[in-house]
Formats: sequence, structure tokens, C-alpha cells
Amino acid sequence: MKNLAINGGAKTVERDFKWPLFDETDVQMVTDIVRSGQWGNPDCGGEVEKFEQEFASFCGTKYALACVNGSVALRLALIACGVKPGDEVLVPPYTFIATASIVIEANCVPVFVDIDPRTYNMDASKIEAAITPKTRAIIPVHFAGQACEMDEILAIAKKYGLRVIEDACHGHGAEYKGKKLGSIGDAGCFSFQSSKNLTSGEGGMVVTNDDALCEMMNSLRNVGRVEGGAWYEHHHAGCNYRITQLQAVLLSSQLKRLEAQTLTRHENGGYLNELLSEIEGITPLSRGLGETRHSYHIYIFKYDKEKFNGLSKVQFSKMLAAEGVPCFMGYPEPLYRQPLFQKKNFMCYAIPVGTDYTNVHCPVTERACYEEAVWIMQHAMLGTRQEMELFASAIKKIKKAIME
Ligand SMILES: Cc1ncc(COP(=O)(O)O)c(C=O)c1O
Repeated sequence: MKNLAINGGAKTVERDFKWPLFDETDVQMVTDIVRSGQWGNPDCGGEVEKFEQEFASFCGTKYALACVNGSVALRLALIACGVKPGDEVLVPPYTFIATASIVIEANCVPVFVDIDPRTYNMDASKIEAAITPKTRAIIPVHFAGQACEMDEILAIAKKYGLRVIEDACHGHGAEYKGKKLGSIGDAGCFSFQSSKNLTSGEGGMVVTNDDALCEMMNSLRNVGRVEGGAWYEHHHAGCNYRITQLQAVLLSSQLKRLEAQTLTRHENGGYLNELLSEIEGITPLSRGLGETRHSYHIYIFKYDKEKFNGLSKVQFSKMLAAEGVPCFMGYPEPLYRQPLFQKKNFMCYAIPVGTDYTNVHCPVTERACYEEAVWIMQHAMLGTRQEMELFASAIKKIKKAIME
């Protein structure tokens, strides 16, 4: 055990993986905006509109509307879909809190559908059982950048008259059957927060092909104003969710690199799958099921402590991180176990009195959180093939040390 980096031994991976990446073009674009004095754009025009058009064209959608973050993008989409207080919205429990908390903020009830053990995405085969007369929408999360089974989800949505809002906050540039994630459902939502594959520090985007949805989301993000209306004329209960021109030019510059970066991550992910599949007790998540390009916002593998002398996942993740692999144990528990749901801290929101999350049990998510899932972060997936080999070597080194 002495040779492990966590105990003072040499690290397997020496490189310090950096994120975000930028060059002089980014610096120049931001500088130009600073010098112009046009930092914001209350009309959502100028550089913001320009970037929206670029992003819509990248996703293959009619519209793209920028907003302050991915959570707000989801919120705009859900509210614009016309949900009413008490409506139910299906969400996975293995995701960032925002996927479910924006449902509460819309006075609706998140209903958790467990994930598929092969992909960690919402299990399409479990959706119908969760539908009730109150269900109005599904928010499938393309978790880690792996496409959900959209054909199955859209078929169910059609059968029951539900709206589908894709949470593509991990899925910039990823594809399902050749279509960009986010462009398949009624609306698709992206985050540009610091850790994301496309970032301006903070920011969000919602894409859609639906004219009515676009019109409503545009109004909601711009304090309820409408096209052609006066400045102090407000039609809907919106807010100022606009982004700055500084963010827009930075995103525009970053977008030029996204395709090449996504390809690198996709190829490295495939290679790492091959390498890790050879290690007993390590199982990469499955690919396929319609996915034609993975964005690997997170590279996830399943860890089996029985094959590692009972070493806990938490301890294993710490050892791997010490070896220089940018990794993490992931979510410590399913969303429904968060105090927000267990204690029903719903504050002013109109959630029906009988709503109770204390009995919710999604075994696949629980296993992922407590036992299995280990995450390698996206910036490490931009490394070389040799570095992918080093990631595998680091795991083998830990295994050898703890099995001795
Ligand atoms: C799956 C998922 N959905 C939504 C969000 C919310 O995005 P933001 O942090 O930009 O509000 C995140 C952010 O991490 C996320 O991971």
C-alpha cells in the first residue's frame, strides 16, 4: 500500500488537467465587448442573438434562447408548457437537484422514475407505471452526456399527451441517432456553468422548434415583455433571466472548439471502455441504445468492492484521485433522500398536502450512489490515448496494492 499516491507514493498521472480552456481569441472577443461599453443587451439582440443563432444552427433547431443558467432554462420550458399547480412531472432521481427543484418551483410534483442500470438514464421501461391522470411532462436527463432512449420516451409521451423537456445540461454536442441532444423533445435545456463542456462561467440555453413555446419562453426570460410591446408593458410573470454580451461572445468563441473536443472525448471514452472492461470489478456504463455520440461530460464506471477486497467506493475514489485521475464518487444519495424532499421544505410552493417522499425507493439509483458509480470529469477526457492508459494503470495499481 505504501506505493499508492494517497500514502505518499508517486502519482500515476502527473498532468494537471485544466478547465476551462481558452486562447487569445477568447480574450480578444471579451476585451472588445468591454471596450465597446455594450456589456448587456436588454433587447436580447446583438451578440446574444448572434450566439443564439449559432447555437440553434449547431443543434439543428429553429430557436435557441439564452438565459442565466440551466436551471432557469428548464424552468422556462416547463412553465411555457402550461403546467398547472399539482401537475406531476416525471424526473430521474440520479441527476443534479435542479432537474427536480424547478418542478417544485413551478408548483408541480416531481415523480421519480428509477434509472436503467446499463446507462444510468431514466429507465424508459419504468415510465408508464409512473404515469397518473395528473402527469403532464417528462424530463429525461441525458446523464453524463449519454443519450436517453428518446424514441421510446416520445412514443409514451404521445400516447399519454405529455410534454418532453430534455435536460441536456451534460449533453452539448452529443447525439441520439444522429440528432443533437436537446433538439428531439418539445424543448432542450443546456447549462454553461463553469464545469460544463461549453461554458461562460454561468449561463443557460433552451432550444425548441415550437413557435408557441419559443414565444412564451422569450417573454418569460425578459420580464414578461412581448415582441412589439412597449418597454414597460409586461404580459407574463417572467423575470430578468437575460445573459450579458460578455458571456455571449465567450460562448461563441468556445462553440468553435466544441465539435473537436466532443469527438476527442467520445473517442477517449470508447478507448477507456475497452481498457477498463479488462479489469475485474470495473464495468463501464453501456453505450448504444441509440447513442451516436457521447459528450462524456462525465465518464462513469461501476465499481464492485467485492473484487477490491471490500474497499469502499468512497475510499477507492479518494485513492484514484490521489493517483492524479480527476475523479469523484458522484452523488452521495438519490435526490428523493435530500432534506428538500424528506422534510418537504417546499416553502411557498403549492405542492399537494399528501405528497410524501419518505417511502420512495429506487434501487438502481441507490446502488449507483452508495455502491457503484465513480465519475471521471470531462476535462480529463480531453487527454491523450496514453493518458487514458494511465487512468487504467492507476486503477490496476490500486487493485494490486489492496489485494496484496
Ligand atoms: C443535469 C443537470 N441539470 C441541470 C443543471 C442546472 O444547470 P445550472 O447549474 O446552469 O443551473 C445541472 C447543473 O449542474 C445539471 O447537471
